[in-house]
Amino acid sequence: MQEAERGLLSLKKLGLNRKHKIAQSACDTKQMFNGQQYKTFCSNDYLGLANHPEVIQASRDALSKYGVGSGASHLISGHQESHERLANRLSDFQSAHIPDVHTLTFSTGYMANVGVITALCHLSNSTQLAPKELTSIYSARLNHASIIDGIRLASKESTVKLTIFEVEELQALEDALQRDANKHKLIICDGVFSMDGNLSPVHKLLDLAERFDTLLLIDDAHGFGVLGEKGHGILEHMDLCSERLVYIGTLGKAAGVMGAFVCAHQTLIDWVFQKSRPYIYTTASPPALAMAALKSLDLIEGPEGQHKRAHLRQLILYWQTHLHLQQWHSLQSLTPIQPLIVGPTQLCLLIDQELQALGVFIPAIRPPTVPNHSARLRVTFSALHAQQDIQALIQVLMNLESKFLPT
Ligand SMILES: Cc1ncc(COP(=O)(O)O)c(C=O)c1O
Repeated sequence: MQEAERGLLSLKKLGLNRKHKIAQSACDTKQMFNGQQYKTFCSNDYLGLANHPEVIQASRDALSKYGVGSGASHLISGHQESHERLANRLSDFQSAHIPDVHTLTFSTGYMANVGVITALCHLSNSTQLAPKELTSIYSARLNHASIIDGIRLASKESTVKLTIFEVEELQALEDALQRDANKHKLIICDGVFSMDGNLSPVHKLLDLAERFDTLLLIDDAHGFGVLGEKGHGILEHMDLCSERLVYIGTLGKAAGVMGAFVCAHQTLIDWVFQKSRPYIYTTASPPALAMAALKSLDLIEGPEGQHKRAHLRQLILYWQTHLHLQQWHSLQSLTPIQPLIVGPTQLCLLIDQELQALGVFIPAIRPPTVPNHSARLRVTFSALHAQQDIQALIQVLMNLESKFLPT
């Protein structure tokens, strides 16, 4: 108990303790938190589908038909036709990019990353007859925490050699792959970096994967629904196709619902299905969520999705051409994630508080979620924002920055 108290105190002193803000209204560009209304620029609901009437109706209809809970894990009796339909529809989304593509759905993106990475590392011991072989994992430095945790768990269960690479220095990755005589190799990279908003060079990574006989796992949590003409994600955006691709997407961000999925060649999906403990040993998610996600997929792919993505692009362009800051540093990003790097954690917390006092909600993102000395406002846009919202935000931020500039 005393250790916990000391630990909590030390987090507080460093400005790193976390707190809930209690939301009292639906996810939207204006939202009530702790009894106060704010303009929000922080959700991952990039297309504004989390509160879309057709998505709500689809889940209502499914609730009436299937009830609330699935009642059991997928492999007992919880796998409903809605889960199967969702998986098939997600396969359609990636069919131009992965030959003989199949899909497995997960309850969350965190579970998908942990489940897929551990299962793929088990490939090095697939027959359980030969001695365990090594899996070489090459993971991008800024990959999401769930990838890091997946690798940590895989390292306990399988023999793993981990190399961290920088996406800006792919020559070093190439050199490492060249030296690697190991049979089982896996490159892992976010499609869109969640805290920076930039795209990873998936086309170059795929080229390396082809040349060095490696699987390439892309976590496109923030690209799915947003990138590509039809919103299919980064593989569509970059026009890529390969049997080596293992594509993970989430349904709790642009799709506005919850859950995640992995698309890959049928044989790999069959293997993950057999081996992935976060898939096997958990209750299947409510069928109503699967039906809501199916409706979101229709919206993402259809004219409404195309219109929303075009609107987002306009908002991003407006932001990039009108925001002029002297000290806080914005990153070049094509996506609705437009972070402002402030630097010191305490300063970022102060700005977060000032913004709240002005009725704007953009919580400070601090280490360890982002690297040390790079605390930031992770500004995100939704297709529900209007240009006036961005204009007003720019004004607030520019005023606030001048207030904090050293005199
Ligand atoms: C890149 C990335 N991968 C995976 C996840 C986890 O997804 P989920 O929220 O569905 O667990 C996130 C969530 O923040 C993410 O940003």
